[in-house]
Amino acid sequence: MQFSTRTTSPGRLRADCALVPVLAGKELTAGGRELDAAHGGRLAKMIRTGDLPSKAGSTLLVQLDGPLPRALLVSMGEAGEATAKAFADAVRGGLQAAGQLAVEEAVSLLHEAPVTGRDTDWKLRSQVLVGREIAYRFETLKTKRETRPVRPKRVVLPVPPGAASRTAVAQASAIANGVDMARELGNLPANHCTPAYLADTARKMARELGLKAEVLDVRQMQALKMGALLSVARGSAQPPKLIVLRYQGAGTKQAPIALVGKGVTFDTGGISLKPAAEMDEMKFDMCGAASVLGVMRVVAELKLKLNLVVVVPATENMPGGRATRPGDVVASMSGQTVEILNTDAEGRLILCDALTYVQRFKPSAVVDVATLTGACVIALGHHHSGLFSPNDGLAAELQQAGRDIGDSCWRMPLDDEYQEQLKSPFADMANIGGRPAGSVTAACFLARFAKGYDWAHLDIAGTAWKSGTSKGATGRPVPLLASFLLARARG
Ligand code: BES
Ligand code: MN
Ligand code: ZN
Repeated sequence: MQFSTRTTSPGRLRADCALVPVLAGKELTAGGRELDAAHGGRLAKMIRTGDLPSKAGSTLLVQLDGPLPRALLVSMGEAGEATAKAFADAVRGGLQAAGQLAVEEAVSLLHEAPVTGRDTDWKLRSQVLVGREIAYRFETLKTKRETRPVRPKRVVLPVPPGAASRTAVAQASAIANGVDMARELGNLPANHCTPAYLADTARKMARELGLKAEVLDVRQMQALKMGALLSVARGSAQPPKLIVLRYQGAGTKQAPIALVGKGVTFDTGGISLKPAAEMDEMKFDMCGAASVLGVMRVVAELKLKLNLVVVVPATENMPGGRATRPGDVVASMSGQTVEILNTDAEGRLILCDALTYVQRFKPSAVVDVATLTGACVIALGHHHSGLFSPNDGLAAELQQAGRDIGDSCWRMPLDDEYQEQLKSPFADMANIGGRPAGSVTAACFLARFAKGYDWAHLDIAGTAWKSGTSKGATGRPVPLLASFLLARARG
Protein backbone atom coordinates (compact mmCIF):
# COMPACT_ATOMS: atom_id res chain seq x y z
CA MET A 1 0.00 0.00 0.00
CA GLN A 2 1.68 3.19 -1.22
CA PHE A 3 0.69 6.60 0.06
CA SER A 4 1.13 9.88 -1.80
CA THR A 5 -0.16 13.42 -1.56
CA ARG A 6 -1.92 15.42 -4.27
CA THR A 7 -3.10 19.01 -4.35
CA THR A 8 -6.35 18.35 -6.24
CA SER A 9 -9.56 19.83 -4.88
CA PRO A 10 -11.95 17.11 -3.63
CA GLY A 11 -14.67 17.92 -6.20
CA ARG A 12 -12.38 16.94 -9.07
CA LEU A 13 -10.92 13.74 -7.69
CA ARG A 14 -10.61 10.64 -9.83
CA ALA A 15 -9.90 7.26 -8.25
CA ASP A 16 -11.57 3.86 -7.83
CA CYS A 17 -13.02 4.98 -4.52
CA ALA A 18 -13.06 7.95 -2.16
CA LEU A 19 -13.00 7.53 1.62
CA VAL A 20 -15.27 10.26 2.94
CA PRO A 21 -15.37 11.05 6.68
CA VAL A 22 -18.73 11.32 8.41
CA LEU A 23 -18.82 13.08 11.78
CA ALA A 24 -21.21 12.01 14.53
CA GLY A 25 -22.93 9.66 12.10
CA LYS A 26 -24.29 12.46 9.94
CA GLU A 27 -22.02 15.38 9.11
CA LEU A 28 -19.72 15.83 6.10
CA THR A 29 -16.49 17.85 6.15
CA ALA A 30 -15.75 20.69 3.68
CA GLY A 31 -14.16 18.35 1.11
CA GLY A 32 -16.98 15.85 1.58
CA ARG A 33 -19.58 18.55 0.89
CA GLU A 34 -17.69 19.57 -2.24
CA LEU A 35 -17.66 15.97 -3.42
CA ASP A 36 -21.34 15.64 -2.53
CA ALA A 37 -22.18 18.72 -4.60
CA ALA A 38 -20.20 17.39 -7.57
CA HIS A 39 -22.27 14.17 -7.42
CA GLY A 40 -25.78 15.60 -7.07
CA GLY A 41 -26.08 15.26 -3.31
CA ARG A 42 -25.89 11.49 -3.32
CA LEU A 43 -23.60 11.29 -0.28
CA ALA A 44 -25.90 13.39 1.91
CA LYS A 45 -28.89 11.40 0.71
CA MET A 46 -27.22 8.14 1.69
CA ILE A 47 -26.35 9.52 5.13
CA ARG A 48 -30.02 10.49 5.62
CA THR A 49 -31.08 6.85 5.27
CA GLY A 50 -29.50 6.30 8.69
CA ASP A 51 -27.79 3.15 7.42
CA LEU A 52 -24.35 4.29 8.59
CA PRO A 53 -23.73 3.36 12.25
CA SER A 54 -21.86 6.10 14.12
CA LYS A 55 -19.28 3.67 15.53
CA ALA A 56 -15.80 4.71 14.33
CA GLY A 57 -14.75 2.63 11.34
CA SER A 58 -18.26 1.73 10.15
CA THR A 59 -18.65 2.21 6.41
CA LEU A 60 -21.38 2.60 3.83
CA LEU A 61 -20.87 2.25 0.09
CA VAL A 62 -22.29 4.86 -2.29
CA GLN A 63 -22.37 4.22 -6.04
CA LEU A 64 -21.29 7.28 -8.03
CA ASP A 65 -20.25 7.63 -11.65
CA GLY A 66 -17.76 9.27 -13.95
CA PRO A 67 -14.10 9.41 -12.89
CA LEU A 68 -15.11 8.48 -9.32
CA PRO A 69 -17.31 5.35 -9.50
CA ARG A 70 -17.84 4.97 -5.75
CA ALA A 71 -17.35 6.46 -2.33
CA LEU A 72 -17.18 4.86 1.08
CA LEU A 73 -18.72 6.90 3.83
CA VAL A 74 -16.57 6.30 6.91
CA SER A 75 -17.84 6.94 10.41
CA MET A 76 -15.36 8.89 12.53
CA GLY A 77 -17.19 8.07 15.77
CA GLU A 78 -19.84 9.55 18.03
CA ALA A 79 -20.17 13.29 18.53
CA GLY A 80 -17.33 14.53 20.75
CA GLU A 81 -15.31 11.35 20.25
CA ALA A 82 -12.53 12.89 18.15
CA THR A 83 -9.80 10.76 19.73
CA ALA A 84 -6.63 9.38 18.19
CA LYS A 85 -8.01 5.87 18.70
CA ALA A 86 -11.32 6.66 16.97
CA PHE A 87 -9.36 8.13 14.07
CA ALA A 88 -7.18 5.03 13.75
CA ASP A 89 -10.29 2.80 13.94
CA ALA A 90 -11.91 4.86 11.19
CA VAL A 91 -8.84 4.63 8.94
CA ARG A 92 -8.62 0.88 9.52
CA GLY A 93 -12.32 0.41 8.82
CA GLY A 94 -12.26 2.56 5.71
CA LEU A 95 -9.19 0.97 4.16
CA GLN A 96 -10.33 -2.54 5.00
CA ALA A 97 -13.75 -1.93 3.44
CA ALA A 98 -12.07 -0.54 0.32
CA GLY A 99 -9.86 -3.61 0.29
CA GLN A 100 -12.93 -5.85 0.08
CA LEU A 101 -13.87 -4.13 -3.21
CA ALA A 102 -11.92 -4.06 -6.45
CA VAL A 103 -10.27 -0.80 -5.43
CA GLU A 104 -6.73 -0.37 -6.72
CA GLU A 105 -6.47 3.32 -6.02
CA ALA A 106 -8.32 5.06 -3.21
CA VAL A 107 -8.35 8.69 -2.28
CA SER A 108 -8.85 9.51 1.38
CA LEU A 109 -10.36 12.64 2.85
CA LEU A 110 -10.30 11.21 6.37
CA HIS A 111 -7.73 13.78 7.57
CA GLU A 112 -10.40 16.46 7.18
CA ALA A 113 -12.06 15.10 10.31
CA PRO A 114 -10.96 16.82 13.51
CA VAL A 115 -8.90 14.92 16.09
CA THR A 116 -8.48 16.57 19.48
CA GLY A 117 -4.96 17.90 19.99
CA ARG A 118 -3.65 16.61 16.64
CA ASP A 119 -2.83 18.53 13.47
CA THR A 120 -3.20 17.56 9.82
CA ASP A 121 0.36 16.20 9.61
CA TRP A 122 -0.42 13.83 12.46
CA LYS A 123 -3.57 12.64 10.66
CA LEU A 124 -1.59 12.09 7.46
CA ARG A 125 1.11 10.13 9.31
CA SER A 126 -1.51 8.13 11.15
CA GLN A 127 -3.19 7.08 7.89
CA VAL A 128 0.13 5.90 6.46
CA LEU A 129 1.07 3.95 9.60
CA VAL A 130 -2.34 2.32 10.02
CA GLY A 131 -2.60 1.54 6.30
CA ARG A 132 0.83 -0.03 6.17
CA GLU A 133 0.10 -1.96 9.36
CA ILE A 134 -2.94 -3.68 7.85
CA ALA A 135 -1.20 -4.20 4.50
CA TYR A 136 1.68 -6.16 6.01
CA ARG A 137 1.74 -9.89 5.29
CA PHE A 138 4.30 -12.46 6.34
CA GLU A 139 4.47 -14.70 3.29
CA THR A 140 8.21 -15.28 3.07
CA LEU A 141 7.91 -18.93 4.08
CA LYS A 142 4.65 -19.84 2.31
CA THR A 143 4.85 -21.63 -0.99
CA LYS A 144 1.26 -20.71 -1.88
CA ARG A 145 -0.34 -17.33 -1.42
CA GLU A 146 -3.19 -17.74 1.04
CA THR A 147 -4.38 -14.18 1.20
CA ARG A 148 -5.62 -11.89 -1.54
CA PRO A 149 -3.21 -9.25 -2.80
CA VAL A 150 -3.14 -6.04 -0.80
CA ARG A 151 -5.86 -3.58 -1.71
CA PRO A 152 -5.97 -0.67 -2.18
CA LYS A 153 -2.55 -0.61 -3.81
CA ARG A 154 -2.32 3.17 -3.77
CA VAL A 155 -3.84 5.73 -1.44
CA VAL A 156 -3.88 9.38 -2.45
CA LEU A 157 -4.15 12.03 0.25
CA PRO A 158 -5.42 15.37 -1.04
CA VAL A 159 -3.60 18.21 0.74
CA PRO A 160 -3.21 21.96 0.40
CA PRO A 161 -0.12 23.08 -1.56
CA GLY A 162 3.15 23.22 0.40
CA ALA A 163 5.95 20.86 1.36
CA ALA A 164 4.89 20.10 4.96
CA SER A 165 2.28 17.47 4.12
CA ARG A 166 4.59 15.76 1.64
CA THR A 167 7.31 15.58 4.29
CA ALA A 168 4.86 14.13 6.82
CA VAL A 169 3.84 11.38 4.41
CA ALA A 170 7.44 10.66 3.38
CA GLN A 171 8.53 10.39 7.02
CA ALA A 172 5.65 8.11 7.93
CA SER A 173 6.34 5.93 4.88
CA ALA A 174 9.98 5.58 5.91
CA ILE A 175 8.90 4.70 9.45
CA ALA A 176 6.51 2.09 8.01
CA ASN A 177 9.42 0.61 6.02
CA GLY A 178 11.36 0.31 9.27
CA VAL A 179 8.36 -1.25 11.01
CA ASP A 180 7.93 -3.76 8.16
CA MET A 181 11.58 -4.72 8.41
CA ALA A 182 11.34 -5.23 12.17
CA ARG A 183 8.18 -7.30 11.76
CA GLU A 184 9.77 -9.44 9.08
CA LEU A 185 12.87 -10.18 11.17
CA GLY A 186 10.73 -10.79 14.25
CA ASN A 187 8.44 -13.22 12.47
CA LEU A 188 11.26 -15.24 10.91
CA PRO A 189 11.67 -18.41 12.99
CA ALA A 190 14.91 -19.19 14.79
CA ASN A 191 16.07 -21.80 12.27
CA HIS A 192 16.11 -19.01 9.67
CA CYS A 193 16.87 -15.97 11.81
CA THR A 194 20.13 -16.96 13.51
CA PRO A 195 22.77 -14.58 14.87
CA ALA A 196 24.62 -15.04 11.56
CA TYR A 197 21.46 -14.13 9.64
CA LEU A 198 21.07 -10.93 11.66
CA ALA A 199 24.71 -10.10 10.93
CA ASP A 200 24.18 -10.69 7.20
CA THR A 201 21.08 -8.50 7.31
CA ALA A 202 23.13 -5.71 8.88
CA ARG A 203 25.87 -6.08 6.26
CA LYS A 204 23.28 -5.97 3.47
CA MET A 205 21.75 -2.84 4.98
CA ALA A 206 25.18 -1.26 5.13
CA ARG A 207 25.77 -1.89 1.42
CA GLU A 208 22.32 -0.68 0.44
CA LEU A 209 22.19 2.42 2.63
CA GLY A 210 25.84 3.44 2.82
CA LEU A 211 26.44 2.51 6.46
CA LYS A 212 29.48 1.03 8.18
CA ALA A 213 28.97 -2.51 9.41
CA GLU A 214 31.24 -4.44 11.72
CA VAL A 215 30.53 -7.92 13.07
CA LEU A 216 32.52 -9.25 16.02
CA ASP A 217 32.91 -13.01 16.37
CA VAL A 218 33.57 -15.18 19.42
CA ARG A 219 37.34 -14.63 19.37
CA GLN A 220 36.93 -10.87 19.30
CA MET A 221 34.42 -11.12 22.16
CA GLN A 222 36.93 -13.18 24.10
CA ALA A 223 39.62 -10.58 23.46
CA LEU A 224 37.25 -7.92 24.81
CA LYS A 225 36.49 -10.15 27.84
CA MET A 226 32.75 -10.20 27.19
CA GLY A 227 32.26 -13.03 29.67
CA ALA A 228 28.57 -12.30 30.26
CA LEU A 229 27.58 -12.35 26.59
CA LEU A 230 29.72 -15.43 25.96
CA SER A 231 28.16 -17.29 28.91
CA VAL A 232 24.75 -17.10 27.22
CA ALA A 233 26.05 -18.38 23.89
CA ARG A 234 27.85 -21.40 25.35
CA GLY A 235 25.00 -23.89 24.99
CA SER A 236 24.30 -23.09 21.35
CA ALA A 237 25.66 -24.56 18.14
CA GLN A 238 25.06 -21.15 16.53
CA PRO A 239 28.03 -18.83 17.05
CA PRO A 240 27.10 -15.47 18.64
CA LYS A 241 27.69 -12.17 16.83
CA LEU A 242 28.10 -8.64 18.07
CA ILE A 243 26.75 -6.46 15.31
CA VAL A 244 27.70 -2.79 14.97
CA LEU A 245 26.12 -0.50 12.37
CA ARG A 246 27.15 3.13 12.06
CA TYR A 247 25.40 5.97 10.29
CA GLN A 248 26.93 9.40 9.91
CA GLY A 249 24.50 12.16 9.02
CA ALA A 250 26.21 14.94 10.98
CA GLY A 251 29.78 16.16 11.55
CA THR A 252 32.32 13.67 12.92
CA LYS A 253 32.62 15.82 16.07
CA GLN A 254 28.96 15.37 16.97
CA ALA A 255 28.49 12.61 19.54
CA PRO A 256 26.34 9.78 18.22
CA ILE A 257 23.19 8.38 19.76
CA ALA A 258 23.52 4.65 20.39
CA LEU A 259 20.71 2.11 20.23
CA VAL A 260 21.32 -1.35 21.68
CA GLY A 261 18.90 -4.15 20.81
CA LYS A 262 18.56 -7.54 22.51
CA GLY A 263 19.13 -10.17 19.83
CA VAL A 264 18.33 -13.52 21.43
CA THR A 265 17.26 -15.39 18.30
CA PHE A 266 15.74 -18.11 20.45
CA ASP A 267 15.34 -18.22 24.22
CA THR A 268 14.78 -21.72 25.57
CA GLY A 269 15.77 -20.48 29.01
CA GLY A 270 18.97 -22.53 28.84
CA ILE A 271 19.51 -25.00 31.71
CA SER A 272 16.77 -23.09 33.57
CA LEU A 273 14.54 -24.41 30.80
CA LYS A 274 11.24 -22.70 30.04
CA PRO A 275 7.98 -24.71 30.05
CA ALA A 276 6.88 -26.01 26.64
CA ALA A 277 3.66 -24.00 26.30
CA GLU A 278 4.11 -21.03 23.95
CA MET A 279 7.85 -21.52 23.85
CA ASP A 280 7.67 -20.95 20.08
CA GLU A 281 7.08 -17.28 20.90
CA MET A 282 10.64 -17.04 22.15
CA LYS A 283 11.68 -16.68 18.50
CA PHE A 284 10.50 -13.09 19.11
CA ASP A 285 13.23 -12.60 21.70
CA MET A 286 15.28 -10.72 19.11
CA CYS A 287 12.61 -8.07 18.53
CA GLY A 288 14.75 -5.47 20.29
CA ALA A 289 17.47 -6.14 17.72
CA ALA A 290 14.93 -6.09 14.89
CA SER A 291 13.60 -2.73 16.06
CA VAL A 292 16.96 -0.98 16.27
CA LEU A 293 17.87 -2.30 12.81
CA GLY A 294 14.49 -1.04 11.59
CA VAL A 295 15.16 2.37 13.10
CA MET A 296 18.55 2.47 11.40
CA ARG A 297 16.75 1.93 8.10
CA VAL A 298 14.39 4.84 8.82
CA VAL A 299 17.22 7.19 9.77
CA ALA A 300 19.30 6.30 6.71
CA GLU A 301 16.33 6.55 4.34
CA LEU A 302 15.42 9.98 5.69
CA LYS A 303 19.08 11.04 5.83
CA LEU A 304 18.59 12.53 9.28
CA LYS A 305 21.19 15.05 10.38
CA LEU A 306 22.59 13.10 13.30
CA ASN A 307 25.02 10.29 14.00
CA LEU A 308 23.69 6.91 15.04
CA VAL A 309 25.30 3.70 16.23
CA VAL A 310 23.28 0.51 16.46
CA VAL A 311 24.69 -2.36 18.50
CA VAL A 312 23.14 -5.83 18.58
CA PRO A 313 24.43 -8.63 20.77
CA ALA A 314 23.02 -11.67 18.96
CA THR A 315 22.93 -15.21 20.32
CA GLU A 316 20.72 -18.18 21.09
CA ASN A 317 20.02 -19.26 24.66
CA MET A 318 20.16 -23.08 24.61
CA PRO A 319 20.74 -25.88 27.09
CA GLY A 320 23.56 -28.31 26.40
CA GLY A 321 26.64 -30.00 27.79
CA ARG A 322 28.65 -26.81 27.51
CA ALA A 323 25.88 -24.49 28.66
CA THR A 324 26.19 -22.21 31.66
CA ARG A 325 24.84 -23.76 34.89
CA PRO A 326 22.84 -22.01 37.60
CA GLY A 327 25.38 -20.82 40.16
CA ASP A 328 28.14 -20.22 37.64
CA VAL A 329 29.99 -16.93 38.14
CA VAL A 330 31.19 -15.01 35.08
CA ALA A 331 33.18 -11.81 34.62
CA SER A 332 31.57 -9.16 32.44
CA MET A 333 33.48 -6.85 30.10
CA SER A 334 33.16 -4.11 32.75
CA GLY A 335 35.10 -6.31 35.18
CA GLN A 336 32.08 -6.79 37.45
CA THR A 337 31.30 -10.42 38.26
CA VAL A 338 27.85 -11.97 38.02
CA GLU A 339 26.42 -15.05 39.68
CA ILE A 340 24.03 -16.58 37.14
CA LEU A 341 21.28 -17.94 39.37
CA ASN A 342 18.87 -18.38 36.48
CA THR A 343 20.09 -18.93 32.94
CA ASP A 344 16.72 -17.69 31.67
CA ALA A 345 17.64 -14.16 32.78
CA GLU A 346 19.98 -14.03 29.76
CA GLY A 347 18.90 -10.75 28.15
CA ARG A 348 20.57 -8.63 30.81
CA LEU A 349 23.74 -10.71 30.46
CA ILE A 350 24.17 -9.99 26.78
CA LEU A 351 23.05 -6.36 27.15
CA CYS A 352 25.45 -5.57 29.99
CA ASP A 353 28.47 -6.29 27.82
CA ALA A 354 26.96 -4.37 24.90
CA LEU A 355 26.33 -1.40 27.23
CA THR A 356 29.98 -1.47 28.27
CA TYR A 357 31.06 -1.82 24.64
CA VAL A 358 29.15 1.30 23.47
CA GLN A 359 31.17 3.50 25.84
CA ARG A 360 33.85 3.59 23.14
CA PHE A 361 31.57 5.65 20.87
CA LYS A 362 31.24 8.37 23.54
CA PRO A 363 27.50 8.53 22.82
CA SER A 364 25.38 11.50 23.87
CA ALA A 365 22.61 9.06 24.79
CA VAL A 366 22.09 5.30 24.79
CA VAL A 367 18.72 3.58 24.57
CA ASP A 368 18.56 -0.18 24.88
CA VAL A 369 15.54 -2.09 23.66
CA ALA A 370 14.76 -5.57 24.90
CA THR A 371 12.06 -8.20 25.34
CA LEU A 372 13.52 -8.43 28.80
CA THR A 373 10.99 -9.60 31.38
CA GLY A 374 7.68 -11.40 31.65
CA ALA A 375 7.18 -9.20 34.71
CA CYS A 376 6.89 -6.14 32.46
CA VAL A 377 3.96 -7.81 30.69
CA ILE A 378 2.31 -8.36 34.07
CA ALA A 379 2.92 -4.74 35.05
CA LEU A 380 1.86 -2.95 31.84
CA GLY A 381 0.13 -5.47 29.60
CA HIS A 382 0.39 -4.93 25.87
CA HIS A 383 -0.25 -1.18 25.53
CA HIS A 384 2.83 0.61 26.80
CA SER A 385 6.44 -0.44 26.63
CA GLY A 386 8.23 -0.10 29.96
CA LEU A 387 10.59 2.88 30.19
CA PHE A 388 13.37 2.99 32.76
CA SER A 389 15.88 5.82 33.01
CA PRO A 390 17.79 7.68 35.69
CA ASN A 391 17.69 10.71 33.37
CA ASP A 392 14.47 12.75 33.55
CA GLY A 393 15.22 14.71 30.36
CA LEU A 394 15.83 11.64 28.21
CA ALA A 395 12.83 9.86 29.74
CA ALA A 396 10.56 12.83 28.94
CA GLU A 397 11.84 12.94 25.35
CA LEU A 398 11.04 9.25 24.84
CA GLN A 399 7.61 9.53 26.45
CA GLN A 400 6.72 12.51 24.27
CA ALA A 401 8.06 10.81 21.13
CA GLY A 402 5.88 7.80 21.87
CA ARG A 403 2.75 9.87 22.47
CA ASP A 404 3.32 11.85 19.28
CA ILE A 405 3.43 8.77 17.07
CA GLY A 406 1.03 6.44 18.90
CA ASP A 407 3.69 4.03 20.19
CA SER A 408 3.72 4.84 23.88
CA CYS A 409 5.92 3.92 26.80
CA TRP A 410 5.24 4.24 30.51
CA ARG A 411 7.92 5.30 32.94
CA MET A 412 8.75 2.79 35.66
CA PRO A 413 10.84 3.30 38.81
CA LEU A 414 14.56 2.66 38.98
CA ASP A 415 15.38 3.62 42.57
CA ASP A 416 18.56 2.40 44.24
CA GLU A 417 16.47 0.63 46.88
CA TYR A 418 15.74 -2.13 44.39
CA GLN A 419 19.46 -2.77 43.85
CA GLU A 420 19.57 -4.72 47.12
CA GLN A 421 17.58 -7.54 45.54
CA LEU A 422 20.58 -8.26 43.29
CA LYS A 423 23.00 -9.04 46.16
CA SER A 424 25.03 -12.21 45.79
CA PRO A 425 27.17 -13.96 48.40
CA PHE A 426 29.50 -15.22 45.67
CA ALA A 427 29.89 -12.43 43.13
CA ASP A 428 29.45 -8.67 42.70
CA MET A 429 25.80 -9.27 41.88
CA ALA A 430 23.27 -11.95 40.99
CA ASN A 431 21.52 -11.93 37.63
CA ILE A 432 18.04 -12.15 39.18
CA GLY A 433 16.33 -10.22 41.96
CA GLY A 434 13.42 -12.47 42.86
CA ARG A 435 9.74 -12.14 41.95
CA PRO A 436 8.92 -8.67 43.31
CA ALA A 437 9.32 -5.91 40.71
CA GLY A 438 11.03 -8.24 38.23
CA SER A 439 11.18 -5.70 35.42
CA VAL A 440 12.64 -3.07 37.78
CA THR A 441 15.42 -5.29 39.10
CA ALA A 442 16.28 -6.27 35.52
CA ALA A 443 16.64 -2.57 34.68
CA CYS A 444 18.64 -2.06 37.90
CA PHE A 445 21.02 -4.77 36.74
CA LEU A 446 21.55 -2.94 33.43
CA ALA A 447 22.01 0.39 35.24
CA ARG A 448 25.17 -0.98 36.84
CA PHE A 449 26.74 -1.16 33.39
CA ALA A 450 25.22 1.90 31.68
CA LYS A 451 27.85 4.29 33.00
CA GLY A 452 29.37 7.37 31.40
CA TYR A 453 26.40 8.43 29.28
CA ASP A 454 22.70 9.30 29.47
CA TRP A 455 20.79 6.06 29.32
CA ALA A 456 17.27 4.70 28.99
CA HIS A 457 15.97 1.16 28.80
CA LEU A 458 12.80 0.07 27.00
CA ASP A 459 11.30 -3.27 28.05
CA ILE A 460 9.20 -4.32 25.06
CA ALA A 461 8.23 -7.80 26.30
CA GLY A 462 4.53 -6.87 26.15
CA THR A 463 4.53 -4.76 22.98
CA ALA A 464 6.92 -6.37 20.48
CA TRP A 465 4.56 -9.12 19.35
CA LYS A 466 0.99 -10.32 19.54
CA SER A 467 -0.07 -13.80 20.63
CA GLY A 468 -3.18 -15.77 19.74
CA THR A 469 -4.96 -15.66 16.40
CA SER A 470 -3.11 -12.55 15.21
CA LYS A 471 0.26 -13.89 16.33
CA GLY A 472 3.13 -11.86 14.93
CA ALA A 473 5.69 -9.14 15.48
CA THR A 474 4.32 -5.59 15.78
CA GLY A 475 7.43 -3.64 14.79
CA ARG A 476 7.24 -1.66 18.01
CA PRO A 477 9.04 0.46 19.18
CA VAL A 478 10.33 1.52 15.74
CA PRO A 479 7.83 4.43 15.54
CA LEU A 480 8.69 5.62 19.05
CA LEU A 481 12.45 5.59 18.41
CA ALA A 482 12.10 7.12 14.95
CA SER A 483 9.96 9.88 16.41
CA PHE A 484 12.59 10.44 19.15
CA LEU A 485 15.39 10.68 16.57
CA LEU A 486 13.36 12.93 14.24
CA ALA A 487 12.90 15.32 17.16
CA ARG A 488 16.61 15.14 18.03
CA ALA A 489 17.57 15.81 14.41
CA ARG A 490 15.31 18.89 14.37
CA GLY A 491 17.38 20.00 17.37
N1 BES B 1 12.79 -13.27 26.97
C1 BES B 1 12.39 -13.45 28.31
C2 BES B 1 11.32 -12.44 28.74
C3 BES B 1 9.93 -12.69 28.23
C4 BES B 1 9.19 -13.73 28.73
C5 BES B 1 9.38 -11.84 27.31
C6 BES B 1 7.89 -13.93 28.27
C7 BES B 1 8.09 -12.03 26.89
C8 BES B 1 7.34 -13.09 27.35
C9 BES B 1 13.56 -13.28 29.26
O1 BES B 1 14.78 -13.71 28.76
C10 BES B 1 13.26 -14.10 30.46
O2 BES B 1 13.18 -15.28 30.34
N2 BES B 1 13.11 -13.44 31.59
C11 BES B 1 12.77 -14.10 32.80
C12 BES B 1 13.58 -13.49 33.90
C13 BES B 1 13.47 -14.23 35.21
C14 BES B 1 14.16 -15.57 35.10
C15 BES B 1 14.11 -13.39 36.29
C16 BES B 1 11.28 -13.93 33.04
O3 BES B 1 10.75 -12.85 32.76
O4 BES B 1 10.65 -14.89 33.48
MN1 MN C 1 15.08 -15.78 29.13
ZN1 ZN D 1 15.01 -13.70 26.75
